[in-house]
Amino acid sequence: MNVPIPDSVEHILLDEAMIQQRVQQLADLISTDYAGLRNEEFLIVGVLKGAFMFMADLTRRLTVPHQVDFIALSSYADATEATGSVRMIMDTRINVAGRHVLIVEDILDTGYTLSYLLRTFAARNPASLRTAVLLSKPERCKVKVTIDYLGFEIPDVWVVGYGLDFADRFRTLPYIGALKPSTYQG
Ligand code: IMP
Ligand code: MG
Repeated sequence: MNVPIPDSVEHILLDEAMIQQRVQQLADLISTDYAGLRNEEFLIVGVLKGAFMFMADLTRRLTVPHQVDFIALSSYADATEATGSVRMIMDTRINVAGRHVLIVEDILDTGYTLSYLLRTFAARNPASLRTAVLLSKPERCKVKVTIDYLGFEIPDVWVVGYGLDFADRFRTLPYIGALKPSTYQG
């Protein structure tokens, strides 16, 4: 399967094989850590839209029973500008109280989004609360957030593909590419 590389993508940071290998490792860790739970006890919450591919690949590799649900947030207007303010625009349908909750997010940038999510979900009395995040940009971190299962640390570049977008473009590329700075520093 050969998807052409868009002009706006400077280079491929993580190819499909690298991503899948790491996702398998994370799935193995999670399967070990959550072994013994019943289906209704383990709830995996994906953050739309960015986490949809990571969520699909991660959950299909788990060997432990689990339920899935999704939330949607709005934080960035439509490009790379962080406002620091996060809004939930769609909540889970399954009640998280008493369940072991794993939040699945695409990327940790400033950390505002994940810290908002951790505060929000902690207040709902889950049995436990952890995070699985595919990418982290340590140089950009503004608030300290604990990631329990991290895919990759990456440099401070805008990345697209594998769920991540720039102004809702490039989301379904099967790899993670670095966007040409000229695309977002217009
Ligand atoms: P934070 O609140 O600054 O940590 O931002 C997290 C959110 O910003 C992520 O869920 C993404 O939606 C978005 N984001 C941050 N960096 C990137 C990037 O390089 N590419 C695509 N989306 C990003
Ligand atoms: Mg996101």
